[in-house]
This record gives sequence, structure tokens and C-alpha cells, in this order.
Amino acid sequence: MIALGCDHGGYQLMQEMKAHLEERGLEYKDFGTYSDASCDYPEYAKAAANAVASGECEKGIVICGTGIGVSITANKIKGIRCALCGDCFSAQATREHNDANMLALGARVTGPGLALKIADIFLDTPFSDEERHIRRIGMIE
Ligand code: RB5
Repeated sequence: MIALGCDHGGYQLMQEMKAHLEERGLEYKDFGTYSDASCDYPEYAKAAANAVASGECEKGIVICGTGIGVSITANKIKGIRCALCGDCFSAQATREHNDANMLALGARVTGPGLALKIADIFLDTPFSDEERHIRRIGMIE
């Protein structure tokens, strides 16, 4: 189960993300927002992050205009490692090295085609499970 959260800046891209996840047969839980009306990104990023931290969802994707607000918010929640990615290399590396459990995207920065590709890489890349990366993640916690 993938936790989703966005604000008005990320709303349109999130609709495309949901359609994409459905095409892939991946289940998600949508924590809002549910329209493009102006709203406060911390509310929705926090709800999605809490679902990942509690184990209700395995991973999360949060979207706002820049991706910055939602990533800062998600990373305040203990156990969350949320990576703001605007390229495919970072999406792969953050799974392999950081075992990132949430992805943040900036809908006003990253076009939908690239954003969906980044999400696919994030969702499909396993953690390396290498000792040095496990150690460093432990140091973060
Ligand atoms: C909303 O205007 C915008 O501030 C928000 O989507 C996000 O970019 C904040 O980091």
C-alpha cells in the first residue's frame, strides 16, 4: 500500500500518479488534498508520513509545487526518510543507499512524464542491504 499526499500545487500531478499506479495494479491510500483549492501542504504530507511510519503503508509519495514543503514535513516524522527527487539517478540511489521510504516530487519543477518515471524507479528499486548503508541509516535514526 502506497500513501499519497499533496497540496493544490501537486493536485493535478497526483491525479496522474493515481491513474498510473492503478494501471500498474498498485494499491494506494489517498490522504488528500481532494481538489485544486488552495490548502496547507503540511496537513497532507503529515497524514501520508504517519501512515508510512505506523506501517499502515509501505511507502509514500508526496507532491507539492516544489516538493520542498512536503519533504520537509514528512522528514519531521520519526522513521521517515523522504527524498525529494527530480531525476532518475537520485530516485535509484536513494532507494539503494538511503532506503528512502517516501518520495517527494515538485509538480511545478518536474514534468509529469519524468515524475512518473521517477516514481516507478523509486517503487521498483530495492534497498542494497549493504552494511555501510545500514550503518549510516542507523546513524540518522
Ligand atoms: C504552494 O503555493 C507552494 O508553496 C507549495 O506547493 C510548495 O511548493 C511548498 O513547498
